[in-house]
Amino acid sequence: MTRFAGESPGATDPLVGRHLLVTGGAGFIGSAYVRNVLARHDGTRITVLDKLTYAGNRANLAPIGANVDEAARFRFVEGDIAEPGDVEPLVAEADAVINFAAESHVDRSILDPEAFLRTGVIGVHVLLEAVRREASRAEAGDRERAPRLLQVSTDEVYGSVAEGYSKEADALAPRSPYAAAKAAGELLARSYAVTHGTDVVITRGSNTYGPYQHPEKLIPLFVTNAIDGQPLPLYGDGLQERDWLHVDDHAGAIDFVLRHGAAGEVYNVPGDAQLPNREVVRRLLDRLGKPWSLVRTVADRPGHDRRYALDGSRLAGLGWRRGVAFDSGLDATVDWYRDNESWWRAVRSGDWHAWYERQYAERLAGSVEG
Ligand code: NAD
Ligand code: DAU
Repeated sequence: MTRFAGESPGATDPLVGRHLLVTGGAGFIGSAYVRNVLARHDGTRITVLDKLTYAGNRANLAPIGANVDEAARFRFVEGDIAEPGDVEPLVAEADAVINFAAESHVDRSILDPEAFLRTGVIGVHVLLEAVRREASRAEAGDRERAPRLLQVSTDEVYGSVAEGYSKEADALAPRSPYAAAKAAGELLARSYAVTHGTDVVITRGSNTYGPYQHPEKLIPLFVTNAIDGQPLPLYGDGLQERDWLHVDDHAGAIDFVLRHGAAGEVYNVPGDAQLPNREVVRRLLDRLGKPWSLVRTVADRPGHDRRYALDGSRLAGLGWRRGVAFDSGLDATVDWYRDNESWWRAVRSGDWHAWYERQYAERLAGSVEG
């Protein structure tokens, strides 16, 4: 039986064997969550609701089909969290809702912010209303108990942190349209906890890496470009710092908070490797045996956050422990992309080319040696 890091075998677990609604479950972190929870073989059933945007990918959930027991406890529904008609009947059946659905790429939010607001604000509102309605039904005795909603948020809501570590009570200061939409979504969720007593918990995770991540993000973009001998577009001086968290640990922390977190509370989920981008790139090139000369310094991301860093003591105090060390996790991730070319070549096709051109053509034309 697979266990998430930090999970103790005998823990009381009101959600084991229950029915979870996982929104955005065909994306990077959501699909890891679904694969890992089903692989526990504890009877938990999962419905995924996903709009299948450019970032949603049924192939991320394909391993489930290979196991008869997991497949029997899994259902996929294509739909939009901002559509009450898609959401309400599914929330009515669920014991808990875990909301991963979002537009997740900062660079796209700079070019086209509208979808970020629709999913990140309206979508969260639709989920909250559906959960609130089910809570009323529970109060009226029409269902056993109210569903809990876990809203997956991000360390980016704190904005750029020059020094020290962000704590959950710190002020929010988002600086990109992506981060602003995420902050709005979680503030709305907290307002429902306060105003309506809705059972909401929130996680703020740090930069996540691992298999099945869309190649628009730093690590998979640079690994796949390097495999093809293409230039690696490093923004600005490349000294921006991120704290890297393995996807299985992020998914595990979300599951842990879902089951053990206090209602209305927020939990930071830090990684274990606070590194400047240049250092991450050096390590992945070393693993691939590719030269630094592939790196090109390109025009910076507007409003680029310099540093994120989380204080993880609240989650550690609840008993959660990380399982994957960055060095081994990065090596395994690089190897996964090297061994799963068909997965990422399919993603890097069609609309990908127009995106790449729009985001990088001018930058690369004006680039200098990294
Ligand atoms: P992703 O872009 O890989 O996946 C997002 C998924 O949501 C896709 O499957 C997409 O089809 C789906 N989706 C988008 N809009 C939808 C809608 N309106 N209705 C239903 N489904 C919709 O994102 P990810 O990297 O897996 O991130 C998942 C969550 O975690 C997001 O909320 C993100 O803000 C948060 N997060 C991500 C990171 C990270 O480093 N990737 C870190 C912290 C928090
Ligand atoms: O911190 C959590 C956040 O991490 C999540 O909330 C977001 O959903 C997720 O996308 C991620 O945001 P970042 O902007 O930090 O991730 P990204 O992979 O886009 O970039 C990581 C760093 O690498 C950042 O400093 C920008 C830099 N970068 C990125 C790309 C795509 C480059 O230098 N060149 C690039 O081409």
